[in-house]
Amino acid sequence: MPVTDIHTHFFPESWPDLAARFGTPDWPWIKHTEPGKAVIMIGNRVFRNITSACWDMNVRLEQMDRNGVDSQIISATPVLFGYNREPQHALDCARLFNDAALDLCARGKGRLRALCQVPLQDIDASCAELTRCMRAGHLGAQIGNHVGDKNLDDPGILTFLHHCADQGAAVLVHPWDMMAAQRMPKYMMPWTVGMPAETQLSLVTLIVSGAFDRLPASLRICFAHGGGSFAFLLGRLQNAWQHHEVARGVSEFPPNHYLSRFYVDSAVFDERTLQFLVEIMGSDRVLLGSDYPFPLGEERVGALIRGSRLTAEMKTKLLGANAQSWLGLPQVATPSGEKQSPPAPAAAKTTQTNSSLGCPARSTADNTSVASNNDDAQSGKKLTYSSYLQVPELLRLQHPESSPEHHDELLFIIVHQTYELWFKELLHDLDAVVANLRATCDNPTSRDGVYEAARLLRRCTEIMRVLVEQFTILETMLPTHFLAFREKLAPASGFQSEQFRELEFLCGLKDEKMLRYHELTPETHAILFRRLREDSLRDVFFKALEALGTLKPPAATATEEEKFQARAKAIHALYRDERHHRDWIDVCERLTEFDELVVSWRLRHIQMVERTIGIRMGTGGSAGSSYLKLTLEKKFFPELWEARTYLEG
Ligand code: HEM
Repeated sequence: MPVTDIHTHFFPESWPDLAARFGTPDWPWIKHTEPGKAVIMIGNRVFRNITSACWDMNVRLEQMDRNGVDSQIISATPVLFGYNREPQHALDCARLFNDAALDLCARGKGRLRALCQVPLQDIDASCAELTRCMRAGHLGAQIGNHVGDKNLDDPGILTFLHHCADQGAAVLVHPWDMMAAQRMPKYMMPWTVGMPAETQLSLVTLIVSGAFDRLPASLRICFAHGGGSFAFLLGRLQNAWQHHEVARGVSEFPPNHYLSRFYVDSAVFDERTLQFLVEIMGSDRVLLGSDYPFPLGEERVGALIRGSRLTAEMKTKLLGANAQSWLGLPQVATPSGEKQSPPAPAAAKTTQTNSSLGCPARSTADNTSVASNNDDAQSGKKLTYSSYLQVPELLRLQHPESSPEHHDELLFIIVHQTYELWFKELLHDLDAVVANLRATCDNPTSRDGVYEAARLLRRCTEIMRVLVEQFTILETMLPTHFLAFREKLAPASGFQSEQFRELEFLCGLKDEKMLRYHELTPETHAILFRRLREDSLRDVFFKALEALGTLKPPAATATEEEKFQARAKAIHALYRDERHHRDWIDVCERLTEFDELVVSWRLRHIQMVERTIGIRMGTGGSAGSSYLKLTLEKKFFPELWEARTYLEG
């Protein structure tokens, strides 16, 4: 089953000056800033930074290959809807971008199909444009979720939706022109708060206005961003419907009856949320949608679904089969019993024709994981080693950049990936250490939390020991071999290891400046920002000592140096009274050992860097090893080290 991403956007490389064409200001225009980068401007205002993935189909196809996406459904961006403009101008604009979409699809080697836009303030014009576009090759329309004060239950919009059903057009509803703009001027709140609320409003409107009762069941309509807040507030809506006649509107059935009338995409960015969404909507109703290539889109398209705990059968549906249903395309049968080995990366770039989408599939090998998991699912859903550990998925996550592929690049990727997996485990365990120490704050006389924290810290030190050792494997790579493919990796850099930085922040080494390496990945940036604000392991450890009575809460007037010395003395006090504080001393020793091992990691990393690239600059723009040497001074728990100076036998 081909993997299809149904929610992606495009901008052409250029288009006519719309403000001059229509004689009205503030139309979107594109300002190219440097090769491969541009800014979408609205009049003189910056709307969004974009990259050539928006207009260069080679870049797009390459990224699709990397993400294991066979086909994309592209649609314009809501900023181009123009529903508040002269209808004729909005129609003209729609035609321009609808034709541009087909031009881009023509360059997409059969792997791209488009949804058109229509001037929804003029229903006749919208129906005519939809018909024209369907004839020209579009698969449906993307519409905004309202037109000024008119919600989707507006009679005109319902007429248009009827027309879509008649034409066999799929409809993607995208939130736009977000509510309460004056109360959300900052922090991207129109995206994080306004958009989910807009979609919620649209879905509730379609239900309680009785619109779904009147619209034909053949209408294939999908709501972006997981349907906004709808699934999470369905219980509330259901409750209101059951107990308050006024909340029922004119709907014939309770809200959950209508779940089979629409689809939602998977752009929810959190595994638990996805799981919940599938539970509420059913696995036939959620489709892979990423919002690619925009900043709030899924960075590694499909990773959320692939990495989730959904069954293999469900994943197949979400990744492709449901898109076929929504788009009204025939299902693709997976050849029964067909087993294929994981794809060679070079093969990922070959194309074959896939009759179902009219799009060439990337390579049958790329569908291996879905096929083999599907087999598991079909053979009675028994868990196997492979399906439990998601081995096929894991094995298809290595995509060397060198071409022809350099033999050692696979090692380079796998070593980094294993580091990242261990970083994940470290974060998991250290979070549990924090939780256990926090529990002792509430109940200082109980020793359970202290014992458990020490036990988990022991695991962390053992993992760190492995991580220090692991560099030797990478050192089997000759410097010349690494240099043969190094330039392909720029500007990717260890600076962008989110989990390494998370570990630093979690332990207490917080440097806000490092966030700048994560500006291109908003989700990562948000996670690190949260870690910055949360209490660190170091903070919680000293709060626990305060609860224990070993450390006095600092006076409001205390300087940082005074607070530091007080904390070091509290450690000193623990060691001096060993008989009563063995368990706490154990925690201190483990934390010190962990700190020590992290410094060893830094040192081994530097040695390996110098052995491999000498004193060359890093791909992240630092001075390389001389920069890294400065980090050797960093300590997670400096008070534990300071206290040692005062200790006596
Ligand atoms: C040949 C192998 C490697 C080379 C040449 C190398 C080189 C570098 C350089 C030069 C930097 C400084 C930042 C920059 O300008 O890019 C750096 C940072 C970093 N590297 Fe590596 N690295 C290698 C392998 C690894 C591996 C296997 C890991 C494992 C996770 C790793 C993790 C990191 C991290 C986390 C940083 C940031 C360190 C900090 O900010 O303190 N590197 N690396």
